[in-house]
Amino acid sequence: MKRLKTNSYKTPERRKRYVGGSVLALLLKHPDKEKFEITALVRSPQRAASLDRFEVTTVIGTTEEPGLVENLASQAHIVFSFADADNLPAIQAVLRGLRRRRENTGDLPFLIHNSGAAVLNDDSRGMYSSDVIYDDMKPEEIEALPATQPHRAVDMAIVEADERGYLRSYIVMPGSVYGIVSGPLVNARVQNPYARLMPHFIRCALDRGEVGMVGLGKSIWTNVHIGELADLYIILLDKLLANPQAVAHGRQGYYFAENGEHTWGQLSLAIGIALERVGISKSVEPTTLNEEEVAKYGGTLEKGYALGTNARCRANRSRALGWKPTKTTQDMLDSLKEQSEALIMEQQAKQTMIM
Ligand SMILES: NC(=O)c1ccc[n+]([C@@H]2O[C@H](COP(=O)([O-])OP(=O)(O)OC[C@H]3O[C@@H](n4cnc5c(N)ncnc54)[C@H](OP(=O)(O)O)[C@@H]3O)[C@@H](O)[C@H]2O)c1
Repeated sequence: MKRLKTNSYKTPERRKRYVGGSVLALLLKHPDKEKFEITALVRSPQRAASLDRFEVTTVIGTTEEPGLVENLASQAHIVFSFADADNLPAIQAVLRGLRRRRENTGDLPFLIHNSGAAVLNDDSRGMYSSDVIYDDMKPEEIEALPATQPHRAVDMAIVEADERGYLRSYIVMPGSVYGIVSGPLVNARVQNPYARLMPHFIRCALDRGEVGMVGLGKSIWTNVHIGELADLYIILLDKLLANPQAVAHGRQGYYFAENGEHTWGQLSLAIGIALERVGISKSVEPTTLNEEEVAKYGGTLEKGYALGTNARCRANRSRALGWKPTKTTQDMLDSLKEQSEALIMEQQAKQTMIM
């Protein structure tokens, strides 16, 4: 039985704009591209240099610099926020900047923010499938969630700003995003081709030598293909540019992004099949992670158990905008097998070099 050597489990290398890069790629191909002036906040000078050739103005800095973020936001009619769905000080800086813009210029700016369906997480720890399904047409359901839920504090601050009237907010909430991205931004190493979560599961399975799951893997999440998620952002943008009055915002402006559901067990099984095929695992069947493993692979016990929650939702408001996703859960599972094989080969290649 082949087992990939790992002295200690390491979290994956730094990622770079998987979701944001996919939307940027579509903006750069947009029919109205010539009318846009796009500015991107970028942490690394190398990445900024790579972006220059795409006619994107880059500003080197981080969201940890509130003055910089506030100034940049104050100069934009539309702010897309993709960097971190949980960074409250960063979003507060954006809100201050947009308020300043409204006060100084009279322009009513738009904030389009990438949140996530983890806001719906329960504490099922993989033990059962919930029948609670949230609907983005029913914001009262989302408003009933505690402020302590993932992403919620940021989302609440954004909606409050909309209520105050100095901006209009649109919060997109994707389920598990999947799919391998290709294209000029990936080739230029500006964009990450892989999602966050799926490779994480694959790496955990490689580290264990067999695929694992939290509890019985029964809890349910939704999924959305990265290309179709990016389409939703562009549909939202186009609608806003055409007729902002027609687009729900603020309290009504939550947009789930999903086109199918999976249990965590199904997801793990797809990885197990890939591992067995290349001889890394004897069995395709996932086994339950013990408490030590949950903490190890989650980073903390709490984050580990979050990898076995229910977070079910329906993107009815997004579909009402005209969004028509077609990729299904089967596409997600197929993509997962493809990613597993790619990552296994990548790790095997690294080991060969070490030996
Ligand atoms: N992917 C999913 O399945 C999914 C689903 C739901 C919600 N979300 C949420 O969406 C957000 C983005 O996800 P993603 O998958 O696109 O992540 P990603 O590939 O890691 O991209 C995040 C980008 O934000 C940049 N960034 C992060 N912190 C920054 C900071 N302090 N200053 C400046 N730039 C910063 C990163 O810069 P560098 O390039 O310098 O690292 C990277 O380019 C996350 O908050 C995530 O929780 C993701």
